[in-house]
Amino acid sequence: MTIPFLDLSYQTRKIQTQLLDVLRNLTDQNRFIGGAEVERFEKSFAQFCGVETCVALNSGTDALRLGLLACGVKPEDEVITSPFTFIATAEAISQTGVPVFADVNLDTFNLSAKSVQSRISHRTRAIVPVHIFGLPADMIAFGALADQGGLAVVEDACQAHGAAIGEKKVGSFGDAAAFSFYPSKNLGAFGDAGAATTSDGECDSMIRLLRNHGQTGPYFHQREGFNSRMDTFQAAVLNLKLPLLQRWNEERQRLAGIYRDELESLNEVIFQRIPEGYTHAFHLVAALVEDRPDLMKFLSEHGVETKVVYPTPIHLLPAYRYLGHQEGDFPNAEEVCRRVICLPAYPGMGDDKVYEIATLIRRFYSRPRAE
Ligand SMILES: Cc1ncc(COP(=O)(O)O)c(C=O)c1O
Repeated sequence: MTIPFLDLSYQTRKIQTQLLDVLRNLTDQNRFIGGAEVERFEKSFAQFCGVETCVALNSGTDALRLGLLACGVKPEDEVITSPFTFIATAEAISQTGVPVFADVNLDTFNLSAKSVQSRISHRTRAIVPVHIFGLPADMIAFGALADQGGLAVVEDACQAHGAAIGEKKVGSFGDAAAFSFYPSKNLGAFGDAGAATTSDGECDSMIRLLRNHGQTGPYFHQREGFNSRMDTFQAAVLNLKLPLLQRWNEERQRLAGIYRDELESLNEVIFQRIPEGYTHAFHLVAALVEDRPDLMKFLSEHGVETKVVYPTPIHLLPAYRYLGHQEGDFPNAEEVCRRVICLPAYPGMGDDKVYEIATLIRRFYSRPRAE
């Protein structure tokens, strides 16, 4: 038995035939950037998230960066985020303002509102909660903190397409939100792509201006901007995949449910806690485990590929050494990095494989161990 951590072939097969027709059309028209496919995607994704507008971009990283700039973040402004995330969250902040980390909750792996509150200073301009692995962050608490302090909230929803608190989808809580359509994401393009969502007209206009070199007319540039546009081809892929997203998310939720039910009795495996009323999009199925290296080796010897996402918290990466952090500064994030494991769970994987993996994990923890 070989079970890869991720296999996109099922998702790709679902749209391949239609995509070849769309591609023929696009190449017939020689239409490669922007255009009707991009506009159609912006409308449908805004509707999916329950926001006024969506700006199609080249990546989730630029969605965060442009979102922060549109919210008025300046080089001296502090922006608070989680150290348990992909580096892009921190990069978008350090390339617009100053990153300030707060700790996460050990049970949800998401940014702790209490820790954020303790890190707010007179220089704080914004908060970037990350919906880690597809689980919404505590947006109610962050909204309240932002209201109190006059702060902006930019959601990092790069892993959380379709996640929700109650009926309200992520991407609709902050002043702006960033999504990634990197191929492995719940909604993945065939290359790099991303989007920013917002219901604030000024924010929308600013992100649109920034994504295309600040251009307001032919070769007339109102301000400096970036090249952050989405390719037409990626929009065409996303237009074909978006109608399938809800079903694919439900499949991820079912697989995650099997893991949870099958491993519920093990004290050595503690899954990410889902607060009441939250919908987890399960970009990744993650748990804190005992004896992680041995468990991964055992699973690998039985043909099961697992991953550690993320082994090092951002504040301890060489890239951010200049911020002067040391081990112990954010103990929960550090502990999650030490104990977290992600298990295979993707559309088309099949329930039987999840049962097999769960059986292997139970076997691993029931082995005789040296005292
Ligand atoms: C939490 C998080 N933030 C930001 C990004 C950046 O997105 P992209 O790779 O599309 O630039 C990612 C993508 O992996 C992510 O997982």
